[in-house]
Amino acid sequence: MRSYNLIAPAKINLYLEIIGDRADGYHELAMIMQTIDLADQIYLQPLSIDTFRVHCNHPQVPTDKSNLAYRAAELMAAQFPDAFSNFGGIDITIKKHIPVAAGLAGGSTNAAAVLVGIDLMWNLGLTQSELAELAASLGSDVPFCIAGGSAIATGRGEQLSPLPNLDHLHIVLAKYRSLEVSTGWAYNTYRQQFGDTYLRDTDSLTARANAVHSGEMVKAILAKDPTAIAQKLHNDLEKVVLPTYPQVLELRELFARQPGVLGTMMSGSGPSVFAIVESPQQATIVKQQIREAIPDQDLELFITRTISHGIKIAP
Ligand code: C5P
Repeated sequence: MRSYNLIAPAKINLYLEIIGDRADGYHELAMIMQTIDLADQIYLQPLSIDTFRVHCNHPQVPTDKSNLAYRAAELMAAQFPDAFSNFGGIDITIKKHIPVAAGLAGGSTNAAAVLVGIDLMWNLGLTQSELAELAASLGSDVPFCIAGGSAIATGRGEQLSPLPNLDHLHIVLAKYRSLEVSTGWAYNTYRQQFGDTYLRDTDSLTARANAVHSGEMVKAILAKDPTAIAQKLHNDLEKVVLPTYPQVLELRELFARQPGVLGTMMSGSGPSVFAIVESPQQATIVKQQIREAIPDQDLELFITRTISHGIKIAP
């Protein structure tokens, strides 16, 4: 069994609309997800014993069963017991570059890489839809992380419709290292505050989820128009996260005031905030301006861009 070194990119949400409740306790969503070139590296090596081990260079990332990458490996062992007993366990080393608990799908993309990597190591030959089904049982964002690129995501976030590639949209991304937002908390708080606006009947829910396909953001993406995309950014979860975390609100307002910023938004359940800018040069300037305004080293700043892939083998 050979070793694999995989690239696991982060995602941002260009659009996130909460449209209702689901019978399974989750929310019905209409989203547009996009991978970016900020990525973790996942190194999978065969182990001579029948177990999985997770190692990570980031102190906040657990290496036990609470790590989604570990759960992905256990899921594969449970689903394919013969392959597991044939090939044995795997050492999973995660080199973290994606900020943790940031709304960037860091944990989900690591789990996606483990699914893709074990499929290769055990010669399972799973189809995209088989992988996607396993991925959905681990988390709502995991199926998207496998293929990445640009996609409309509905249902819990696991029903995907790919969009044409949106490479080279220039982005500045910011996250306070010590600030973490629980996705469960963000959605539950949203339900408490805005649950009365939820669509209830199935036809209306379906119609709203379908509307995103012909919506303004999709039109802007099809036109590959960064200015229009930036103007149509939307995230319902900002309504609960920004009032609770004034630092994040301040950051978002600061981004919005910078010359060269076409648009800014919180990603997922936050607290990371991103800004779409015109050019790489502009990204450098905006990053410098934010750093000067907030010299606090707790604030991490990244220059990144959109990419057209999800999990892939490192070159
Ligand atoms: O699917 P995932 O484990 O990433 O979701 C984390 C939490 O976010 C869920 O436990 C749920 O509270 C909330 N969530 C939701 N509706 C979704 C996705 C996530 O309510 N579609």
